[in-house]
Amino acid sequence: LSEKPLLGKKVVITAGPTREAIDPVRYISNYSSGKMGYAIADAAKNLGAEVVLISGPVNLAPPMSITTVKITSAQEMLDAVENNLEDCDIFISSAAVADFRCKNIACQKIKKTSDTDSMTVDLIKNPDILATVGHHQKRPKLVIGFAAETQNIEENALKKLSTKNADMIIANDVSDKSIGFNSENNSITIYSRDSNPVNYLNTSKKELGYHIINHCIVYMNGLNHND
Ligand code: C5P
Repeated sequence: LSEKPLLGKKVVITAGPTREAIDPVRYISNYSSGKMGYAIADAAKNLGAEVVLISGPVNLAPPMSITTVKITSAQEMLDAVENNLEDCDIFISSAAVADFRCKNIACQKIKKTSDTDSMTVDLIKNPDILATVGHHQKRPKLVIGFAAETQNIEENALKKLSTKNADMIIANDVSDKSIGFNSENNSITIYSRDSNPVNYLNTSKKELGYHIINHCIVYMNGLNHND
């Protein structure tokens, strides 16, 4: 077997959170560290792929020999993804994209006033990047998403396979604080259209990166045999 099974393949990966500006000094975001996406990018590169990593703001060094595109908002992430879909074989959406952004971003810092005890920020929905790629004219052969859930994990993961037109959904239970978001380890279940779910319990994100990429390789080989 080749040591570089992904040689000649292009893999685009999103990672980390997005930030949605409220005013020049404030934003809405989430606790995503980007570690899972960066680990997948590293594994894909080490197995021979050309990797484009599209990353929100994280405290991680850009990986060596990987084209890293730094973005801030969901809209910027979508633009960067669409700019890199040409000849893309595998798209992996591990980013924790903010579901909503501010309807109006204040040009100046919002000041508190002495006569108001509450304020309202109007939010509008962000584009769903994974669903956009899943239904795209330039849809890669393999489209993979994540499902960070606190309840009904399997049901929600399976629903995402079809609504986002993905081939695989990787679910993790973010209600368990010892794993997930900022930790080194994660427990995941990989759901795909036509095989049984596969579990990896409390495993380092670095190792999970390789498991996930190996699933991609097996899936791609299956596609080639069906040609
Ligand atoms: O629908 P939900 O946010 O739970 O789906 C999670 C999956 O969808 C993840 O793969 C995430 O990267 C992707 N997603 C996205 N754009 C959004 C929201 C989620 O690509 N606006």
